Amino acid sequence: MAIVTHSSVIFCVMICLIGIVSASNVIPSATTLVSSLIPTPNYSELSSTFYGTRCPRALYIIRREIIAAVSRDRRLGASLLRLHFHDCFVQGCDASVLLKDTPTFQGEQNARPNANSLRGFEFIDSLKAKIEAVCPNVVSCADILAVAARDSVATLGGPIWGVRLGRRDSTTANFNAANSDLPSPFLNLSGLIAAFKKKGFSADEMVALSGAHTIGKAKCAVFKNRIYNESNINPYYRRSLQNTCPRNGGDNNLANLDSTTPAFFDSAYYRNLLFKRGLLHSDQELYNGGSTDYKVLAYARNPYLFRFDFAKAMIKMGNLSPLTGNQGQIRKYCSRVN
Ligand code: HEM
Ligand SMILES: *[C@@H]1O[C@H](CO)[C@@H](O)[C@H](O)[C@H]1NC(C)=O
Ligand SMILES: *[C@@H]1O[C@H](CO)[C@@H](O)[C@H](O)[C@H]1NC(C)=O
Ligand SMILES: *[C@@H]1O[C@H](CO)[C@@H](O)[C@H](O)[C@H]1NC(C)=O
Repeated sequence: MAIVTHSSVIFCVMICLIGIVSASNVIPSATTLVSSLIPTPNYSELSSTFYGTRCPRALYIIRREIIAAVSRDRRLGASLLRLHFHDCFVQGCDASVLLKDTPTFQGEQNARPNANSLRGFEFIDSLKAKIEAVCPNVVSCADILAVAARDSVATLGGPIWGVRLGRRDSTTANFNAANSDLPSPFLNLSGLIAAFKKKGFSADEMVALSGAHTIGKAKCAVFKNRIYNESNINPYYRRSLQNTCPRNGGDNNLANLDSTTPAFFDSAYYRNLLFKRGLLHSDQELYNGGSTDYKVLAYARNPYLFRFDFAKAMIKMGNLSPLTGNQGQIRKYCSRVN
């Protein structure tokens, strides 16, 4: 397993965690054994060696390009992680989020949670072109998103996990589901729990996945109400955010979701919450006297527990209703159907 990285520390941490977290890949195979008794979930048709003979260089190319691009622009890693999330929560991990609107086709990119917000499309297009040059019509955009998210997190110092492959790309998208199924930053704790439950995740898994907000940025428009109207926020933090985000205007100004170590995938996100330094209303809801406080405390105290649980929940998210077999297609260009 050749992992190229500029930092030997990250290198070691990545290797050490491969063994641990890929153990959870055992669960789908166990499911296969009893497939005569219960319906087989679609993700059991995915396989960690899917491109082993079909396109042996695919995973190497993705890793090489991610390490180069994310080392140059660390926020890109955050944007790619979010793309995978917004893909999987809307009709499964099928690259539906990458389809652009046309006069006859409504995609998901102009839905409320995505519009003027999702990033990384050009990078995915150029990565896809590099892979097409080596193995035409073989590697799906949905798989590229899943691997790009994994390699981005690893490059930023986070955990690494085994991604099962063989997802195919949709020929459809769902604008209404993007509006209804992607969680809003204005939700309260019960709303957040319900939004993740709808996709099969527990409240604990929701808390682990929210740790993704240890990297990346948010626009003033989504935290303005919090910094002018809410009281469960650290006063110094509030003051500094008000400099970035005026009461009137400045809606596109950016702030780091993790105000302490924005360029590293660590567990500072949870420590921030203990000090009322959550940027989004939804972030602080996880530690606001409710049922998930204990989990935030646990992740703040034990970064390794967070790394492990995050990796496990990402594997589960990446397995949300993939298209397999002869469903869907392998897109030539990720932004449009063939
Ligand atoms: C718990 C419910 C969640 C809510 C309400 C939420 C909401 C948001 C919002 C409003 C932004 C800022 C967008 C902008 O201002 O343009 C954001 C950014 C981000 N979200 Fe979430 N999110 C949630 C969960 C997740 C999950 C599960 C992941 C990934 C596993 C994730 C990954 C990210 C990343 C990495 C960014 C920064 C993107 C960038 O800098 O381009 N979020 N999120
Ligand atoms: C959470 O929000 C929902 C919908 O906005 C509301 O009905 C519910 O009462 C809220 N729950 C709490 C505990 O505030
Ligand atoms: C604060 O809350 C009030 C009342 O709900 C609302 O009208 C106002 O727009 C909010 N302020 C900001 C900056 O969001
Ligand atoms: C499997 O795929 C089919 C067809 O896309 C879909 O209707 C179904 O919900 C999926 N099943 C699971 C468990 O995701």
